[in-house]
Amino acid sequence: MHHFDYRAGVMHAEGLPLTTIAERVGTPFYCYSTATLERHYRVFKESFSMDDMLVAYSLKANSNLSIVRTLSNLGAGADIVSEGELRRALAAGIAPDKIVFSGVGKTQTEMSFALDTGIYQFNVESEPELELLSGIAEQKGQVAPIALRVNPSIDAGTHEKIATGRSEDKFGIPWNRARNVFDHARNLPGVKVVGIDVHIGSQITDLGPFEAAFSKTADLVRSLRAAGHDITRLDLGGGLGIAYAREDEAPPHPNQYAEMIGRVTKGLDVQLIFEPGRVIVGNAGILVARIVYIKQGDTRRFVILDAAMNDLIRPALYDAHHDILPVIEPAPSAAFSLFDVVGPVCETGDTLARDCELPSLESGDLVAVMSAGAYGAVQASEYNSRPLIAEVLVRGQDMAVIRERRTYEDMLAADRIADWLE
Ligand code: LLP
Repeated sequence: MHHFDYRAGVMHAEGLPLTTIAERVGTPFYCYSTATLERHYRVFKESFSMDDMLVAYSLKANSNLSIVRTLSNLGAGADIVSEGELRRALAAGIAPDKIVFSGVGKTQTEMSFALDTGIYQFNVESEPELELLSGIAEQKGQVAPIALRVNPSIDAGTHEKIATGRSEDKFGIPWNRARNVFDHARNLPGVKVVGIDVHIGSQITDLGPFEAAFSKTADLVRSLRAAGHDITRLDLGGGLGIAYAREDEAPPHPNQYAEMIGRVTKGLDVQLIFEPGRVIVGNAGILVARIVYIKQGDTRRFVILDAAMNDLIRPALYDAHHDILPVIEPAPSAAFSLFDVVGPVCETGDTLARDCELPSLESGDLVAVMSAGAYGAVQASEYNSRPLIAEVLVRGQDMAVIRERRTYEDMLAADRIADWLE
């Protein structure tokens, strides 16, 4: 469900035609819908019946301050993985006691900053991290609240590059060492173990792997408690997938996800924490681009856009599918044919979609790359010296530029000519 629809033959973001936004900010640009964002947050949150839960929006999916503020206004907390994300969460208005800090490589400076901030929980992923955190907290005269992230050795059945719960992955504490690490953590002066954390991957479209991982983790809660550990929180990570293609994909509805979790965690009496990213913001954003050329190759036809892999790297990196739709609605009688939709970057990998069914289009026409709200803008780069593009947030008929397009001057300003070259 989203609010990017054709109205009177033009795709709108809520009440605004994309053509109007393109005139105002130029192309390409990311465009987000407030109503979609709010709806997705509410649907997720309201799928669960318990009062005591924390929905910690995973900033890595989209960390624009206006996006985070929109969610913070609805009561969301934050899942962060760096000091940069922590600073963004705070700047957007999220209270420190709603922030959890995940990630395998937290540095001493980052931990220190997070301790000074007074965040809700550190999700600790290894023994060395545990020792370091305990030491820093002790020096500050603090006791850091921690969950230990365990690796349940479960394949989430998602793309290879975004599966995180297999024993060969870098994430979490190996299952067979988990008990010992919990016992050890209990004796460290600078940490207090309050929970267990598990996250097995992203864009997971089948409940099976989630259920397997969560059941294992629920068993661990019971056995740790039997051994005298005071486990009061269970962080179940993020990972719930979304539909990228219009038809053949049917990820579970948050209701089904919540029903399964209710069943698996029944009677545990823990606070549940969630770290959803994509399911909140994925379908709340699109990338709008203009066609530069239509090119006839030897065997294939190309639609060449002014947006490229540096703006949206998901197709190149994960073979991800994004629907691409013309902004002007095709007539019912329009004939569709197959095109490869590509960008101007000098790599064959700069292909946003292969064999995309499109009506006949011309240079200057606009297209919308759908479902680009998560892991789109945040993964953009200035490869090929293409400045980062604008981001726009729509609410009803209002729009705000929530990130300015970088200028060429901005782009060049950070470089220096080495003094011996002057
Ligand atoms: N919690 C942890 C510990 C994570 O590592 C992640 C995602 C999340 C929560 C949020 O997962 P989500 O609900 O968004 O699936 N760039 C890739 C996805 C990388 C996901 C990394 N971790 C992509 O574009 O598909």
